[in-house]
Amino acid sequence: MKVLITGGAGFIGSRLARKLQADGATVTIVDNLSEQIHGADAPFPAGLKDIARCIRGDVRDKPLMRGAIVGQDVIVHLAAETGTGQSMYAVEHYSDVNLQGTSVLLDLLVNERPATLRKLVVASSRAVYGEGQYRCAAHGTVYPTPRAEAAMSSGQFEPVCPACGEIVEIEPTAEPTPYGPSSFYGLTKQVQEQMVLMFASALGIDGFAMRYQNVYGPGQSLSNPYTGILAVFSNLVRQGKPLNIFEDGEESRDFVFVDDVVDATAACIRPDVHGVMALNVGAGERTTVLEVARAVIDYYGADVPVQVSGAYRVGDIRHNVADISRIRALAGFEPTWRFADGLKAFLDWANDYTPSDAGFDKSLKELSDRQLLRTGKVAS
Ligand SMILES: NC(=O)c1ccc[n+]([C@@H]2O[C@H](COP(=O)([O-])OP(=O)(O)OC[C@H]3O[C@@H](n4cnc5c(N)ncnc54)[C@H](O)[C@@H]3O)[C@@H](O)[C@H]2O)c1
Repeated sequence: MKVLITGGAGFIGSRLARKLQADGATVTIVDNLSEQIHGADAPFPAGLKDIARCIRGDVRDKPLMRGAIVGQDVIVHLAAETGTGQSMYAVEHYSDVNLQGTSVLLDLLVNERPATLRKLVVASSRAVYGEGQYRCAAHGTVYPTPRAEAAMSSGQFEPVCPACGEIVEIEPTAEPTPYGPSSFYGLTKQVQEQMVLMFASALGIDGFAMRYQNVYGPGQSLSNPYTGILAVFSNLVRQGKPLNIFEDGEESRDFVFVDDVVDATAACIRPDVHGVMALNVGAGERTTVLEVARAVIDYYGADVPVQVSGAYRVGDIRHNVADISRIRALAGFEPTWRFADGLKAFLDWANDYTPSDAGFDKSLKELSDRQLLRTGKVAS
């Protein structure tokens, strides 16, 4: 099996490349080694060139991509800009990389019809849902709209029922949940997945949009301040700096270990797995940001303050946990990593690197300057 992975030098892509190659695939990678992720003038990650054909280039470069798709059986399109907050002001750039990059790929596929291609996989995100799926005591399953400014600024962060305005309880979000991204990043992921599924159908091949939840683990960028809460927290704690927690710290995420994400993606690439659809990929376990902060501090035995400020970012969602029954039924995927074990594996790995400031304060100032980081309060 010949597999092209765009963004294959990144966190998920490099681990996926290694797994697929170990399973017998011939892997090609296209990656521009983006400075924000890899640092200035970075080479391909150690060892990657030994297991894959590594092409340094941009997915928006049509001639380069024309060459890269030749002879591939499967294309996994991971290359993207990935910062939720950053997407709210780097609008043109996010549109260009995420949407134009996907357009170039699909234009080539539909016009050149590579005869070998049988499957197209794109990295989508839980961000396509916005707040996602909740339960209202009076109205059953509901899909809250973005949280209101007035409620957030007074410290009421929980989503409310769109029908009656009462606070609702989180449910695992399933794939039929309507689209409702609350960030431009999420909107680009929505359009990317709709594009890929539309053209997979048009080409008569399999197409999967992998709605990854919050992926973490060894290999994630420790230098990108725009994404990756675990990397940000471990950097700050190791430098003895306080952890400033947005909202009231009770916001939660479905943290899924990178090896589980790789296994889920590899399972969907198997020749016996067919379809054209979106698939949630998560651990199905919900952890609050405050729990994450305490776990990171406990791991280091550090004495750093946790400051819960009530501040909030425009575009953030409140809670998230994925319903993974669809991918379980389709491809037999079962997550194997519990958060406590995965966090330890991540922190053990991160310890080998010198903690850096990583521009986190600068990233917050960029948001604040554009009124995308708002002051708030924690309800008493
Ligand atoms: N990590 C997560 O928590 C998460 C969650 C949901 C979805 N995703 C999606 O999964 C995919 C992979 O994410 P990741 O965490 O591995 O991110 P990453 O930033 O580590 O990897 C992305 C890779 O794409 C490359 N890239 C960026 N722009 C490019 C361009 N124009 N041309 C070629 N290469 C380019 C980067 O150099 C990087 O190596 C992304 O599409 C992301 O949106 C990730």
